[in-house]
Amino acid sequence: MQRMSRICSLAVALLLVASAVWAEDGAAGWLRYERIADAAVRQRYDFVAGSIAALDSSAVVSSARDELIRGIRSMLDRTLTTTTTPADGAIVLGTVDEVRRALPAAVIPALDKRNGYWLGTASSGKRRAIVVAGLDANGVLYGAFALLRHVALHDSIDSLNERQQPAAPLRWTNEWNNLDGSIERGYAGPSIFFEAGHVVTDLARAREYARLLASVGVNGCAVNNVNADARAIAPDFIPQLARIADVFRPWGVSLALSIDFSSPMKIGGLDTFDPLDARVAAFWKARADDIYRAIPDFGGFVLKADSEGRLGPSAYGRTHADAANVVARAVAPHRGVLFYRGFVYDHLMDWRNPKNDRARAAVDNFKDLDGKFDANVILQIKNGPIDFQVREPASPLFATLEHTTEAIELQITQEYLGQQRHVVFLPPMWKETLDFDMQRGNQPAPVKSLVSGYVGVSNVGRAVNWFGHDLAMANLYGFGRLAWNPDNTSAQIAREWTAQTFGHDPRVDEVVDDILLNSWRAYERYTGNLGIGTLTDIIRAHYGPGIESSERNGWGQWHRADGRGVGMDRTSATGTGFTAQYPPKVAAMFESLERTPDELLLFMHHVPYTHVLKSGDTVIQHIYDEHYRGAEDAAGFAERWRGLDGLIDRERYSSVLAKLEYQAGHAIVWRDAVTNWFRWISGIPDARGRVGRYPNRVEAESMRLDRFAVEAITPWETASGAQAIRCPSGTCTATTTFSGAPGAYDIVVQYFDENDGASKFTLSVGTRQIDTWVANDIFPSREPNGHTSTRRVVRNVQLKAGDVLKIEASPDREEFAVVDYVEIVSRP
Ligand code: GCU
Repeated sequence: MQRMSRICSLAVALLLVASAVWAEDGAAGWLRYERIADAAVRQRYDFVAGSIAALDSSAVVSSARDELIRGIRSMLDRTLTTTTTPADGAIVLGTVDEVRRALPAAVIPALDKRNGYWLGTASSGKRRAIVVAGLDANGVLYGAFALLRHVALHDSIDSLNERQQPAAPLRWTNEWNNLDGSIERGYAGPSIFFEAGHVVTDLARAREYARLLASVGVNGCAVNNVNADARAIAPDFIPQLARIADVFRPWGVSLALSIDFSSPMKIGGLDTFDPLDARVAAFWKARADDIYRAIPDFGGFVLKADSEGRLGPSAYGRTHADAANVVARAVAPHRGVLFYRGFVYDHLMDWRNPKNDRARAAVDNFKDLDGKFDANVILQIKNGPIDFQVREPASPLFATLEHTTEAIELQITQEYLGQQRHVVFLPPMWKETLDFDMQRGNQPAPVKSLVSGYVGVSNVGRAVNWFGHDLAMANLYGFGRLAWNPDNTSAQIAREWTAQTFGHDPRVDEVVDDILLNSWRAYERYTGNLGIGTLTDIIRAHYGPGIESSERNGWGQWHRADGRGVGMDRTSATGTGFTAQYPPKVAAMFESLERTPDELLLFMHHVPYTHVLKSGDTVIQHIYDEHYRGAEDAAGFAERWRGLDGLIDRERYSSVLAKLEYQAGHAIVWRDAVTNWFRWISGIPDARGRVGRYPNRVEAESMRLDRFAVEAITPWETASGAQAIRCPSGTCTATTTFSGAPGAYDIVVQYFDENDGASKFTLSVGTRQIDTWVANDIFPSREPNGHTSTRRVVRNVQLKAGDVLKIEASPDREEFAVVDYVEIVSRP
């Protein structure tokens, strides 16, 4: 008996260990190193056995060695032993010089770009060794990760001979983390770096994050918000920051910081922050020297000045070059850099003036400063001229500056793109910009050839899977892979990420890749088409639909939709003149209504709703059709994911499914809001008769109500019929009698889940309760609107005519159990 129970507890313990090892919570990201079970595949790596020789003991090369040991053990159940002599080594790691000395037989091609590496083989003693040679220690680390990636992707490494050099020397992320632990535009919990005004005690997550960054070649990370708190560089804060640098260092990631340009006043005790004042220059120098004393490999600063209320050089009539150079000179002796943000515009512009245009701002502000920045200043330019919208043209500033070092800023955190509740795989969108040919000087000049740096606004949080949505990790991965080589295709990036993240079952990979690769297009379809902008609430949450929020304010995200037409006239002939900011050939294309690609039409031109697109559809019908198609795409993602039941781990299967189902519902909210709004403003009905007609829908306000009150929703287009019902207190009921054919139905309850309470709902058919739930999700609003509109679906309910459907609801705190409609959909 006792023996039995011992065996049982052993079995339980083993199970626990196994499940701990295989906990698929997304924390490992793509670095899962899944065990290779297939014997034929394992055979490919037979010669990866024995010892591993690291030719130096630097922290970065040691990370490379340890990572290889870890990955090979996990994928191939083999433990490589460490040695410092290459003889008979299975894997030899070192800088090019070290490897050449230790293994003269190795034929290493020339490397001339920092962080480059060569992966190859060379004879070593009696056997063939795999060589990972980097131009520098980071190169060795990136080579090690590349080798592991090959194994994880089951590639043959028999004739390994791979020379890799990064497209750009600076590949950074920006984390918009505040010192109090909150994250601006972060959607995955609080900061992994800061809390309550100090650096967190346990930096394990920061260390893990640096490892993920290193695995895709990212070599710098600015940890605090570009809307910077001056205290971040105060003397007493530096020792804390040094602790972050310590956990980044073994992964070759340089710590960097965003700075507040008024710091000389805020923390320096000066009465000025004039960049041309010698005391101000001395302040910056002292701060830089102090930081480099504590953090010798500090990367540099990021500066947002004269933008969105941040103080800058204009306070003293100085230029952006003056501002950049005073800081750049402080870090230059330490080989540090300054990323100066090109995101400078006036957010208090007069919307009544049709010549005003936010898109022009970057070029207008920087064109005369070309060549005036010091060599270690990098102008950090967002991919598009507005602000991370679902589709924008490439910023003309990339082509305007010829004597200024440029970096492209891409946003990994999905601020305007569904905030990691919607799947939107961004490499296809980023590539549109990177591949866009500016034709400067009538020569091929794709944006990727003009930039020397890549900055990804990442904003990971404490969510165990980093971004809140397991599929959103593909964007961090994709950012790194494109920053390394912008010629990588989106399909290849998706394929690599999916196989490493979910394994090699072709049924799984096909579905995941397909969802990823179609997701941006789908999101564009059900949000803002033809370059109009995302059509979200631009004033506050940047999340759900809020079509009019762009208009009649100074923010300049105008789409100028009125009763007759839509779009910003940015032509030189009749509009703002933005098109002329591009080199002549591109300018001529955008100036021409005929030659502007449909997908950017409304960014460049104001047209009547009846304007016929190249596709043959009118603009208005295109808007309707695309929204229906986008919502179908989103429904299709959830449907296809359901087909993976049993093929991937339960944890990620369920969590992604829940997100995709929510997205499918929210896509309908988007569809209905945008199509109804445009039908209203244009007065032109949908030729296919769908907009405003919802045959399966019972509006909550037309149900039989007990204690519920009818209320108007703002903005009106975010509720079906512009109205909903709210329960002021106690328990309220709304009933409707089903009158359709008998059969199986899915019942949808569309309601509003605000973030200021957790109201309760039950749904019954007759006396049978079929569902009960609490509205306790955290959407970014306290009101019933397009951010909070969500749905509950009860599937496969048998109904017959005369059945009474009843919603019972009770409010909680400030959330009044607001219901929009019920939809009863016959099952196929
Ligand atoms: C966007 C974003 C802000 C951010 C700004 C920036 O406007 O909404 O939160 O500060 O970009 O990039 O500086």
